Amino acid sequence: MTHFNIISSIIQERRTVKPVQMNGKSIPREQLEQILALAHWAPTHAHTEPWHFFVYHQASLQQFGADHAQLYNLVTLPEQHNPATFQKLLNMGVNASHLVVAVMKRGANPKIPFVEEYAAASAAVEHILLACQAAGIASFWSTGGLTHHNALKQYLQLQPEDAVVGLLYLGYTDTPPKAGKRVASIQQKITWHEGS
Ligand SMILES: Cc1cc2nc3c(=O)[nH]c(=O)nc-3n(C[C@H](O)[C@H](O)[C@H](O)COP(=O)(O)O)c2cc1C
Repeated sequence: MTHFNIISSIIQERRTVKPVQMNGKSIPREQLEQILALAHWAPTHAHTEPWHFFVYHQASLQQFGADHAQLYNLVTLPEQHNPATFQKLLNMGVNASHLVVAVMKRGANPKIPFVEEYAAASAAVEHILLACQAAGIASFWSTGGLTHHNALKQYLQLQPEDAVVGLLYLGYTDTPPKAGKRVASIQQKITWHEGS
């Protein structure tokens, strides 16, 4: 297999797997360290490396779920409160091995705009998802719950200029992968300018 064939299958076969489809098996710490080390190779403008990963496992993962649900209670008006959402956030990590909260943490270089720092951190997240795929690990990039809420930033002790990029639930699954779905064809997404 060529490198191109290998990376093609890793990219095309990666599927979102929700934590409810995970089986509770643990990812070895060393393997997760290797995966996060690959995230660190994402491209970054001016070497700002604007990512940080909060890793939750076992009791800490369940505690994060409880805290996330509690934050939802705190920030939601009574008339908008949905007990099903509370339960979902509470139990989100139950079958996952790890939760990686991927964060864009701005460094000391104000010349690099927010969007570029966010883009670099997003690229780091994609490295994680692809590395997981290559390692037989299921992944779910969630932006649900309080991902974009200041309350979660405060919980994580982030600065106002930082951002949570995603809640990455990782684990193993026994469920066969579902077929990938793309709505448009790639031809619709490309405007070629070739020659005159
Ligand atoms: C930035 C981002 C945020 C996402 N947030 C959610 C989410 O909150 N809930 C969800 O069900 N899926 C979420 N997804 C996963 C997408 O739903 C999923 O990637 C899409 O359905 C395509 O499926 P695939 O990843 O298997 O190709 C998110 C994906 C991205 C890139």
